[in-house]
Amino acid sequence: MKDLLRTQDLSRSDIELLLDTAADFAENPLRSNTALANKSVAILMTKPSTRTRLSSETAVAHLGGTPIFIRGDELQLGRGETIADTAKIISGYCSALIVRTFAQADVNELGANASIPVINALTDDDHPTQLLADWLTIREHFGKDISGRKFVYLGDGNNMSHAWLVMGAIMGAHVVAATPRGAWAPDPRVIEVAQKIAQQSGATIEVLHDPEAAAKDASVLYTDVWMSMGDSEDERDEKVLALSPFAVTENLMSLTEKDSMFMHCLPAHRGEEVEASVIDGTKSLVWREAYHRRTTIQSLLYHLVRGDLKGYSQ
Ligand code: CP
Ligand code: NVA
Repeated sequence: MKDLLRTQDLSRSDIELLLDTAADFAENPLRSNTALANKSVAILMTKPSTRTRLSSETAVAHLGGTPIFIRGDELQLGRGETIADTAKIISGYCSALIVRTFAQADVNELGANASIPVINALTDDDHPTQLLADWLTIREHFGKDISGRKFVYLGDGNNMSHAWLVMGAIMGAHVVAATPRGAWAPDPRVIEVAQKIAQQSGATIEVLHDPEAAAKDASVLYTDVWMSMGDSEDERDEKVLALSPFAVTENLMSLTEKDSMFMHCLPAHRGEEVEASVIDGTKSLVWREAYHRRTTIQSLLYHLVRGDLKGYSQ
């Protein structure tokens, strides 16, 4: 496996390896501080980022390498140079490319034309590195035995809902996405991918439209912003109205298991997708989850550059 372009690229054993190493990096951030010595990693972003940018830059630094942050509008890409040519040029200077942008097809094209590992740091369709941090946080909190547990995403059927369903499928978990019907439901092609993986892993995949039924007896309620980067402001009012019943409130949390927790990829909008008392309360895992963005990206870079990951064969 050269690249991490989609969540479904990872096998369960790859994920276990990545999480084990990330747990090590949480204890000892400088354990492998020469792994990227004299190497550079390009981080190209055409959308804003707080966590992914900072955790990528610090992860490279902790591995002894040099991060090179590039805003999308700084490259000749904006003046007509092709994605393929850009991928070949970056491959000549750097040991990996981390990229956040709109179209999944652009990240795929970078991967196809780069000789170095390319990592998807969020597209309109997926957010695989976020899910590594989420699952390390889940494993750290609930342990490795997740049988009988239900992990529920509520809100927009966006990139996060896709990554949630596919990652849960690979991990053999009972995962649920509870979203409105229609325009803000997850992409049916992604549901199909998750269901196909679940047939092999023993996972249970549910896509529901009733937030209370979804929350009942859940171990985790997870949510994301209602307006994603790139969403049209023209649809805001209609979208917020459709998503309002899926807000994670104290009331919804009261339907979950006694030991349930709240998670969110962040940034959060208190009073929209989550009540302030939930995200700032004792059941919130969000700070540990955000911390693990660095430990898991560090682990991913470490293993991808070494060529340790096998990938998911479907
Ligand atoms: N969770 C996440 O990807 O955060 P940023 O957009 O700040 O990178
Ligand atoms: N769905 C959000 C995730 C942000 C981390 C977005 O794409 O903006």
